[in-house]
Amino acid sequence: MCTSIPNQKPDTTANMMKKLLCSLLRCTLVQIHCLFDYIVTLIFSFYYWGKANKVPPVDDDLLLDSAIVLAEKIRNKKVSSEHVVTTFINRCKQVNGLLNVIVDERYDEAIEEAKEVDRLLARSTDINTLKATKPFLGVPFTTKESNEAKGLLHSMATVARKGYRSKEDATVVASVKSSGAILIAKTNIPELNQWVESRNIIYGQSNNPYNTTRTVGGSSGGDAAITAACGVPFALGSDIGGSIRMPAFFNGVFGFKPSENTTPLKGVGMRDVDFTSTMAEAGPICKCADDLIPLLKIIVSKTESRLKLDSPVDLKKLHIFYQESSGDLRISMINAEMRDVFMKAVDYFRDLTGSAQKIKLPGSEYSFRLWRYWMTREGVDFKSDITNRTSRTSATAEIKKLLTRNSNITLAALLKIIDEDFFPKDKKHWAEEVTNNMREYLLEKLGDNGVFFFPSSPFPASYHNSYFLRPYNFGYWALMNVLRLPTCQIPLGLDSEGLPVGIQVVAAPYQDHLCIAVAKELEKSFGGWVPPSIK
Ligand SMILES: *[C@@H]1O[C@H](CO)[C@@H](O)[C@H](O)[C@H]1NC(C)=O
Ligand SMILES: *[C@@H]1O[C@H](CO)[C@@H](O)[C@H](O)[C@H]1NC(C)=O
Ligand SMILES: *[C@@H]1O[C@H](CO)[C@@H](O)[C@H](O)[C@H]1NC(C)=O
Repeated sequence: MCTSIPNQKPDTTANMMKKLLCSLLRCTLVQIHCLFDYIVTLIFSFYYWGKANKVPPVDDDLLLDSAIVLAEKIRNKKVSSEHVVTTFINRCKQVNGLLNVIVDERYDEAIEEAKEVDRLLARSTDINTLKATKPFLGVPFTTKESNEAKGLLHSMATVARKGYRSKEDATVVASVKSSGAILIAKTNIPELNQWVESRNIIYGQSNNPYNTTRTVGGSSGGDAAITAACGVPFALGSDIGGSIRMPAFFNGVFGFKPSENTTPLKGVGMRDVDFTSTMAEAGPICKCADDLIPLLKIIVSKTESRLKLDSPVDLKKLHIFYQESSGDLRISMINAEMRDVFMKAVDYFRDLTGSAQKIKLPGSEYSFRLWRYWMTREGVDFKSDITNRTSRTSATAEIKKLLTRNSNITLAALLKIIDEDFFPKDKKHWAEEVTNNMREYLLEKLGDNGVFFFPSSPFPASYHNSYFLRPYNFGYWALMNVLRLPTCQIPLGLDSEGLPVGIQVVAAPYQDHLCIAVAKELEKSFGGWVPPSIK
């Protein structure tokens, strides 16, 4: 509304008055939003008073190792794969009662596979070849329920598919398995992956390992929580609207969304072919930045030549850009601690490189609307998928079922269907033009040696269900799906309430290695992932 006043118009008095009124109105709206957020937090904190818990500290330091360190130890027979896999499985069993993140498991089969790895290693003479062909040999991992894995549940957390088991692996799950990694379990998601909290009718609600009154985020919520709780060294997620980076942030671990069209999507969600024009990518979630490149190489195996994952990065020569707020009025204001840690990260890189330029992406204030528009171009039919593609539901039908107590979908899914049926759509021309202009603007700045620091979220993981009152707050992540740029979610330690904080770092297409180089440096100077509890 206000922002549509063209800047070029001469500043007549009338224009200036209009601008002044607009900024006054904006200020008032921001203040009202802040007050609203304050009251929401207050009410929820009363409700959850005294109910908080967190996961116990680990009793075996092996659980703290990165995936590549574990792989190295297994290869050099310092420790057997059987021991590693068993230790992680025991940790999963120890924390899952509290977290409710594991929704299906193959523990016995995984231990058998680990023994097979140990036998293979016992008779191998050429460890270097094994390292090249199977870099994660014997290392356990999880993947979200929505990524197909042969024999395991793939209900998409929707009642109409309850009990459905995959007949084959998603391409990307198969790639990770062929790197030698051992799948031990599948983890919780929102219904059809379409909400910011991992809660559904089939598996219930997942809890944050740092504070069980808080959400794990979505949709790779179970993956990020079990990684942060040391139940696995890494997990395989997918991201169409922040689904890797949001839970990575809420659970204080690294999450990476690769460049567009670099990851195979067959078997990710209900896609039965590889989508090419999409905001979605598969990607890794892990505790240690050193794991990102090796994991990414596996995940993008067919397109790796487009990326420059082995190119060295001279951090001192990077061009740094940043923006402190998207300006989207739907989204809560960024709280003081988040802003503080954001500016510390920017300042750290300002010192390192000699400069950091503040920019404003033209159109970032429409982050949610743009994402909502691009979701309509995905070729995914939510209203059909939720019936397991046997028919197509509608808002009217679902509201009727709700009133007659016959509903078997989540509130989040109902709201999505209501939004599809009853709320006006944005114009194609408008949305595509704003997106293209914004992308061009940012790519022109970034070139092939720039990174963009962008906030992750207004605040750390909030109380369960409070997101129904803040449904747009994932816009900071979603904007990077709209722009289809490689983006790393980087943990920067904990806030005063003991909840993880962090930042997003973005690069131009195929410059994924720049984000990851920054992630490694920030991990070194800010501490990266911090365990939920320390002995
Ligand atoms: C969880 O959060 C609440 C509210 O911020 C806090 O009072 C409580 O101490 C936290 N619990 C843990 C285990 O950190
Ligand atoms: C859901 O769809 C799949 C694939 O078409 C089918 O095999 C399955 O039987 C359906 N129903 C359930 C409950 O899984
Ligand atoms: C859920 O709703 C669908 C659509 O009405 C119906 O076909 C299905 O039988 C219901 N499933 C259960 C388990 O209630």
